Amino acid sequence: MRTDIGQIVHLADYRPTDFVLERVDLTFELDPTATKVEARLIFHRREGVDATAPLILDGDELSLSGLLLDQEEVPASQYSVTDKNLTVRDLPSTLPFELTITTIINPEANTQLMGLYRTGGIYCTQCEAEGFRRITYFPDRPDVLAPYTVNIIGDKAANPLLLSNGNFLGGAGYGEGKHFAAWFDPHPKPSYLFALVAGDLGVIEDTFVTMSEREVTLKIYVEHGKEPRAAYAMDALKRSMKWDEEVFGREYDLDIFMIVAVSDFNMGAMENKGLNVFNDKYVLADPETATDADYANIEAIIAHEYFHNWTGNRITCRDWFQLCLKEGLTVFRDHEFSADQRSRPVKRIAEVRHLKSEQFPEDGGPLAHPVRPTKYREINNFYTTTVYEKGSEVTRMIATLLGSDLFKKGMDLYFERHDGDAATVEDFVACFAEVSGRDLTQFSLWYHQAGTPLVTASCAYDASARTFTLSLEQMVPATPGQSAKEPMHIPLRLGLLSEDGKPMTPAKVEGAEFTTDVLHLVERAQTVVFHDIPSRPVLSLNRSFSAPINLHFDQSAADLALIARFESDHFARWQALTDLALPILLRAVQDTRNRAPVACDQTLIDALLTAAADETLEPAFRAQVLNLPSEADLARELGANNDPDAIHAGRQAILSQIADAGRDIFAALHEGMATPGDFSPDAASAGRRALRNAALGFLSLSDNTPARAKAAFDAANNMTDLSHALTILAHRFPETAEANEALATFKTRFEDNALVVDKWLAIQASVPGAATLQRVQALMQDPLFTRANPNRVRALVGTLAFNNPTGFNRADGGGYRFLAEEILTIDPRNPQLAARILTSMRSWRSLEPVRADHARAALMQIERAEELSTDVRDIVDRILK
Ligand code: ARG
Ligand code: ZN
Repeated sequence: MRTDIGQIVHLADYRPTDFVLERVDLTFELDPTATKVEARLIFHRREGVDATAPLILDGDELSLSGLLLDQEEVPASQYSVTDKNLTVRDLPSTLPFELTITTIINPEANTQLMGLYRTGGIYCTQCEAEGFRRITYFPDRPDVLAPYTVNIIGDKAANPLLLSNGNFLGGAGYGEGKHFAAWFDPHPKPSYLFALVAGDLGVIEDTFVTMSEREVTLKIYVEHGKEPRAAYAMDALKRSMKWDEEVFGREYDLDIFMIVAVSDFNMGAMENKGLNVFNDKYVLADPETATDADYANIEAIIAHEYFHNWTGNRITCRDWFQLCLKEGLTVFRDHEFSADQRSRPVKRIAEVRHLKSEQFPEDGGPLAHPVRPTKYREINNFYTTTVYEKGSEVTRMIATLLGSDLFKKGMDLYFERHDGDAATVEDFVACFAEVSGRDLTQFSLWYHQAGTPLVTASCAYDASARTFTLSLEQMVPATPGQSAKEPMHIPLRLGLLSEDGKPMTPAKVEGAEFTTDVLHLVERAQTVVFHDIPSRPVLSLNRSFSAPINLHFDQSAADLALIARFESDHFARWQALTDLALPILLRAVQDTRNRAPVACDQTLIDALLTAAADETLEPAFRAQVLNLPSEADLARELGANNDPDAIHAGRQAILSQIADAGRDIFAALHEGMATPGDFSPDAASAGRRALRNAALGFLSLSDNTPARAKAAFDAANNMTDLSHALTILAHRFPETAEANEALATFKTRFEDNALVVDKWLAIQASVPGAATLQRVQALMQDPLFTRANPNRVRALVGTLAFNNPTGFNRADGGGYRFLAEEILTIDPRNPQLAARILTSMRSWRSLEPVRADHARAALMQIERAEELSTDVRDIVDRILK
């Protein structure tokens, strides 16, 4: 356990290494508790570097057992070792030299799941961001690229598989009961992309023929017996490979592409060159055990990791400040892939919901940071929704500003110019500036200024002049370390609709650049005049969420209802319905707090039910419409002095009124949206299930008895329907015989399947209300729960903290005290996991004073702990600041 508080790393301090790494040759002699790693590294001193400069390598929890320089033992006087570095002095001034470093590591004891560790009897690695230094002493930074040869020696019976990056060179027996395998990765790569997997796994195999007619072997490794559950992942992989060729012109570059699914993993998955390692949650699926959401996630994450082969691996990051260069861009690519494979507007709605519920609170709270940060204390804490999702939005805005042709040209230039490089955000932006001739300096503020911009809009129509005037103002809120902000370059897509819902096209637009439907807001305040508009238009602003902003625009319910019916952009229709619902929901929360009766506006009910029943709309879209802004959305809108109980009760009161008003429609949808026949995970069928299940939720609410949900539970033939019915029972009818029986049946049926156990835990951890804390504590005693598995911890502790506003934010502060204890328990074992779960407290200052005081006390309890990881120390300090 590290007890130091961690050094702050600054972007401004970047400089290249003194020594250039030419080649890496690794030999592993696997042993569960004492694996021997021999690293042969060939370096030369960079031109111009002082001839006396020592070589300083990174290391963490290593035991050094040998050090040779050009095959000669290095005398003790020539090197020194600390708990962080190996420093070697008196090295050749110009000639290349070979350093042979032998270290002993203990994979079994590696509970933080960084470096080489064991999971379910399998050896596996996770090196991003700084895990390779836990394997051997190394210049462990992303701008040090080299080709790797890897030899793995292991017990043959226990480890029939010995895998690493690149192409397989060969293997053979190796003494008694052992064998070895050799791999060579010709593509120079940084250490964070290194991977090794060894053990005994089942496999499914397929092939892909690339655009230049090369045949690539595809293998997905899973636990024996689970092979059939990898079929969907394989299908998604082949579709990803094809799509990247067709849309981005990117071809795969090795003879083999492998994916390994493991059950203990700190995050979703990892794009190691040619050998992706996945959390098995994002590989394994069949109708009986996976929901439609699981299928969609698998498709997206398989694509994401595959797309990294070009955006991340062939072109990597110069330093970790550039993380968004690979992550934001790759998220954008996987979003586009899913949009092409599924419904584009529905995908966009889901993205924006996610962005607003995860990234906006981060950007508006104590953990706010720019998409490209300038300093960090613990890089693992910067794998954030700002770097990933806002990073993706920034890439999307470049595409919006340039148009698709120039965007494609810019991407092509980026791939051509920077292939093999460790690049920067500036390199990336320069490609788009160059192909478009546009100055993107102001636009680049999106990378540098944290905080969600607020755009305020107002408009007026002048019938005699036939002009429509739009006044826009922008403001970027202060964030930690950034008090004053410059105005941003904000691309706002917009449409004008006539009062009968037809699009209107202005003859001329003054006061802003306006191309096709994109208005460029670049000043703090800007007035834009649309000419030759024959009648008062209804303005649809920030279509398809072209900019990740908060928009204040007072539109009448009638205008919003018109947009909801007639906009050609379906995202905008959904946005209009949301804007219609928000003030009503917020008023319901206030009324609940003031103990006044809650009333739902008829315009909202009509608009929602009209959309829900509209058969010209996709079922998946209609399901999104019925999924009203969440409690977290309302808390964010309210901003301060929040009472999660009132938010819950106010929102439920509105839902009940919609449920009563729409009984017939919901009953018809529940009937009509059935998906008879064999289960298919395709997007259209998933959409029908989503709409049917939304209808079931409303029906159960107005029935006010569990009977219908119990019947749905008993009749379900797939996990989507089954888990949805169970959620209704557990959340709306807690402690009824029906709910208890369903929970027990579910447990008995699936207790051998850890991924389904996670669903069982999460459904219970998200039951609204103060009683859930005790339930979570009781579940922690269940033999199915273990703190050793990150998925289990996230399902139970993470769900309570992130996804249960009333259960976590108990008025007595019990939820916060529980979380503090858990963080302190998890931290010594797995700091990354502890730090991530602690971010659930990031909005504590927006709670009402009693809860906020309890939250602060719990945070201070963590802060006072004597031994904290750098990860948790960094988060708790920033949250409390
Ligand atoms: N690069 C991985 C991805 O595809 C995630 C790695 C996360 N690493 C970490 N230390 N948190 O997004
Ligand atoms: Zn990624």
